[in-house]
Amino acid sequence: MNIQAFLSEKISVAMCAAGAPADSEPLVRQSAKVQFGDYQANGVMGAAKKMGIPPRQLAEKILEQLDITGVANKVEIAGPGFINIFLSPDWIAQQAENALADEHLNITKVKPETIVIDYSSPNVAKQMHVGHLRSTIIGDASARTLSYLGHNIIRANHLGDWGTQFGMLIAFLEKKQNENAADMALADLEEFYREAKKCYDEDEVFAERARSYVVKLQSGDEYCRAMWRKLVDITMQQNQETYQRLNVTLTEDDIMGESLYNPMLPGIVADLKAKGLAVESEGATVVFLDEFKNKDGEPMGVIVQKKDGGYLYTTTDIACAKYRHEVLHADRSLYYIDSRQHQHLMQAWTIVRKAGYIPDSMSLEHHMFGMMLGKDGRPFKTRSGGTVRLTDLLDEAYERAQVLIREKNPDMDDEELNNVARVVGIGAVKYADLSKNRTTDYIFDWDMMLSFEGNTAPYMQYAYTRVASIFKRADIDESTLTQPINLIEQHEKQLAIRLVQFEETIMQVAREGTPHVMCAYLYDLAQAFSGFYENCPILSAEDENVRQSRLKLARLTARTLKQGLDTLGIETVDRM
Ligand code: ARG
Repeated sequence: MNIQAFLSEKISVAMCAAGAPADSEPLVRQSAKVQFGDYQANGVMGAAKKMGIPPRQLAEKILEQLDITGVANKVEIAGPGFINIFLSPDWIAQQAENALADEHLNITKVKPETIVIDYSSPNVAKQMHVGHLRSTIIGDASARTLSYLGHNIIRANHLGDWGTQFGMLIAFLEKKQNENAADMALADLEEFYREAKKCYDEDEVFAERARSYVVKLQSGDEYCRAMWRKLVDITMQQNQETYQRLNVTLTEDDIMGESLYNPMLPGIVADLKAKGLAVESEGATVVFLDEFKNKDGEPMGVIVQKKDGGYLYTTTDIACAKYRHEVLHADRSLYYIDSRQHQHLMQAWTIVRKAGYIPDSMSLEHHMFGMMLGKDGRPFKTRSGGTVRLTDLLDEAYERAQVLIREKNPDMDDEELNNVARVVGIGAVKYADLSKNRTTDYIFDWDMMLSFEGNTAPYMQYAYTRVASIFKRADIDESTLTQPINLIEQHEKQLAIRLVQFEETIMQVAREGTPHVMCAYLYDLAQAFSGFYENCPILSAEDENVRQSRLKLARLTARTLKQGLDTLGIETVDRM
């Protein structure tokens, strides 16, 4: 059960009964300190202000109306008018029992929505680089989370597979094929792109051919189309390997590249003109938006079709939002793209809304993120200043984890070691990213992410193995645990309350697309377990009822950690 939502509802009803305006928010939060109880309602002051009465007076009236017998064993008014709620240990224990008895941890069923998640979205004939890493990792965690809750998820890999650069790429592929060196060239896409660009800039005959191929490709010429296909396929084969290594759920079926929307573009431009939104300006077709001002304070012009007839990234994103409504019937469309593209998206979506391409009920959400920085606080680069390739980064993660795991387990056989190193190394890279608030830049630091201390993947994965090992060591069958959970010690209660806060945590992540909230929760949970483990003997507990109750708490901890890490796309092992 979602305790925060449950208490909000209860307080809300009591507030209304106490005469507060209907739109008053109870603002129920987890309390920051034990002396303030488990939850606190902070909305009384705001409501009292609207009513023009002293907050404590309203708080008292609310408590008279509040019916949470059996749920809380103490409710008190604190400070200027906070309401502190102390949950009853028996009630918490019951919630923990319910979670344990259900394979889905007793998460409340959601009304399934269709949610499109636009993530990863690399570019054709270019190596995926670390800039795409954040989108891939955070987007995938969001997809896993929402799909775990029962929503209908459509993963959309908005591949950069269209545009004028394809003339150049096709001409270059042709050149390499004539030299019988195409396969070799395509093995390193970064190099391929660079060389193609060089030919284009330096060889006028080549550039002329390239330009003619753009026109041909756009008019559906079969040869150009086949060459283009080859470029797309090779790129995606390489990217698919990276997804696999990263344990990311994207498949080839999720590709919805820019080219998909290309046939829609002429119609959209014509429609925007017909609606009076787009006008001719210096040969191009432009939408002037009052919502955005240029540096002279005038409405900003967004080009939707260039003078030469070409369409732009913005035109494609207008079509893309329209498509996600008309064809995919999305309720929400989430975009995991770095914050530098925020203005671009806002402009595209303003046009989409003005043109009435999607209903008001459909939400378009830019779940943006900052940059990945090196330890020096500058954009993450190789030592020589080049862009870091994702595959190289993952190789390094694996190698570093191998050394680390070997140190800790001198006797582990190679096969197991390699698997653990993979899980820990990749987990570390992913978790380092997921655990930071995505809206800010973050510093990529090997030592920190591979540390066994703090909010890191190795710490969390190790915490999991420790709980799991209790059951392995004692060879306990869960079905023999028939005694109820009984919360007596403070450490038992603290662990249990964390355990039953899983649902409100995952609901917040689902709403906001903020996996760091899940990471912080799991870290708190692991720490609560540590406190419990050190202070409350489990297997050696003398009383059988106590032993069973504690085993149940341990069991639920293991399952919650594993499930939580799974929604983040972080794997676990039984031993490390
Ligand atoms: N391919 C783009 C890039 O590498 C990202 C695409 C993001 N998705 C979108 N609908 N615009 O920058």
